[in-house]
Amino acid sequence: MIIAIDGPAASGKGTLGRLLAAHYGYRHLDTGVIYRAVAHALISAGHDLNDEAAAVSAARGLDPQKFGDPALKSHPVGTAASVVSAIPAVRAALLEFQRDFAAAPPGAVLDGRDIGTVICPDAEVKIFVVADPRVRARRRTLEARSRGEAADEAAVLADILARDERDQNRAVAPLKPAADAYLLDNSNLDIEAGVRAAIDIVEAVRAGRSRG
Ligand code: DC
Repeated sequence: MIIAIDGPAASGKGTLGRLLAAHYGYRHLDTGVIYRAVAHALISAGHDLNDEAAAVSAARGLDPQKFGDPALKSHPVGTAASVVSAIPAVRAALLEFQRDFAAAPPGAVLDGRDIGTVICPDAEVKIFVVADPRVRARRRTLEARSRGEAADEAAVLADILARDERDQNRAVAPLKPAADAYLLDNSNLDIEAGVRAAIDIVEAVRAGRSRG
């Protein structure tokens, strides 16, 4: 089974994806990390974020062993990833890696922006996670501070809103719910309640399929 989780920045989809995968014994891919790794490679090499040839080359040369690099988690790298991810050729270069990951047994949970719409349109379960931007800004600010980064909540909120705007309005694979996605509002749920809500969705889909 493939479970696709999409949603805006800091909606909690990454944590949900990881815990849902652990619950079902599936593999998990946080696809934001891939775009972050491309952005980080460009920044480290001193390239412009809109340098398409450099970005595509970074995308083709990605090393999954480095996806755990803590530098990828920083707020500026997330913003840079949003810019790089709007380049269609970068998305095309990353498509196969994501589809291969999704197809390998025993099952997979992928989270991102376009998993249910573009990467895995045939995923058995699609969940679109939303959360109030102020709640998301608060979470990201606390996360950044816990890593020792200085973070101003108002600036983080402005950045999250700008990122939503860019991710939703780009020409290729914009952030939007698939027609058959279940909406999960994560604004007022703690982690445990969010995971329970996601498991309820998966189980309801499974029950519906075995009846149908
Ligand atoms: O989920 P995140 O904050 O780690 O994602 C960073 C950026 O990467 C996000 O603003 C847009 C881009 N992204 C994307 O375009 N498609 C995905 N499937 C995942 C992330």
